[in-house]
Amino acid sequence: MFDLAGKVALLTGANGGIPRATAELFRRLGAHLVLTDLDTAALDDFAASLPEGQVRIVTARMDVTQRDQVDEAVALAGREFGGIDILVTGAGLYVEQEVTAMSDDDWRLTLGVNLDGVFYACRAAMPLLRRGGSVVNIASMAGHRGSVRHAHYAACKAAVLGFTRSLVHELSPRGVRANCVSPGIIATPMTEGIMRENGAALIAATPMKRFGTPGEVASVIAFLASDAAAFVTGETIHINGGIYMD
Ligand SMILES: NC(=O)c1ccc[n+]([C@@H]2O[C@H](COP(=O)([O-])OP(=O)(O)OC[C@H]3O[C@@H](n4cnc5c(N)ncnc54)[C@H](O)[C@@H]3O)[C@@H](O)[C@H]2O)c1
Repeated sequence: MFDLAGKVALLTGANGGIPRATAELFRRLGAHLVLTDLDTAALDDFAASLPEGQVRIVTARMDVTQRDQVDEAVALAGREFGGIDILVTGAGLYVEQEVTAMSDDDWRLTLGVNLDGVFYACRAAMPLLRRGGSVVNIASMAGHRGSVRHAHYAACKAAVLGFTRSLVHELSPRGVRANCVSPGIIATPMTEGIMRENGAALIAATPMKRFGTPGEVASVIAFLASDAAAFVTGETIHINGGIYMD
């Protein structure tokens, strides 16, 4: 599909449905992997399930809300591989709450994972990103059109779009690109609840009449991360079966 041979990719939230599919695809395309998430035992099991080959896979605990843990895991990638070519910010938290029911702590937790986490990961990785490198931040359809009972999540995802476009000005002089993907409804652990409660209506509202798969997001991330997208930066690609068109 795309050639990522020898590139070093660091993923946050790498135990998640979309990030796992991305890691699997990156692995097949020849990238070395630095997989980070909260649960390192699960990450190690996942890493062990990937086919062996020329590539190296390193796992590390990274709570993206904790700046020190982010800095430490990114520094590990630097020590192990001498630099980073691809950063994918996959960590995410999707809590259903109306605004009037949101405590300050609820608000801050969602912002901590979905927004601070992106900032911390990008800030730490930027000095290590090599020329030709690429940042792919996972935003969401929620950031474009809002999300019922997920105002904090939607606010973060909209902010990630603006943050990523701003990164372009700092990264372009160094030969690094930054883009977003904005998935619609993708079948992962994150969306099990809304699929159960509202799945039929969501499918009916989707022109392609189905949910997306993690692999269908991973392939777009791989495109953006690869040299096939060498002149694409500051862009957002929607992956949603037509349920939302900009
Ligand atoms: N599934 C969808 O429909 C959908 C749609 C739009 C955007 N997204 C985004 O895609 C990304 C991946 O989501 P997914 O659907 O694979 O969900 P998922 O729930 O399967 O994965 C999310 C991952 O983030 C990790 N995580 C949560 N809090 C963390 C923290 N503090 N530090 C580090 N990791 C943490 C979890 O452990 C989990 O592995 C998220 O950013 C999500 O917002 C998903």
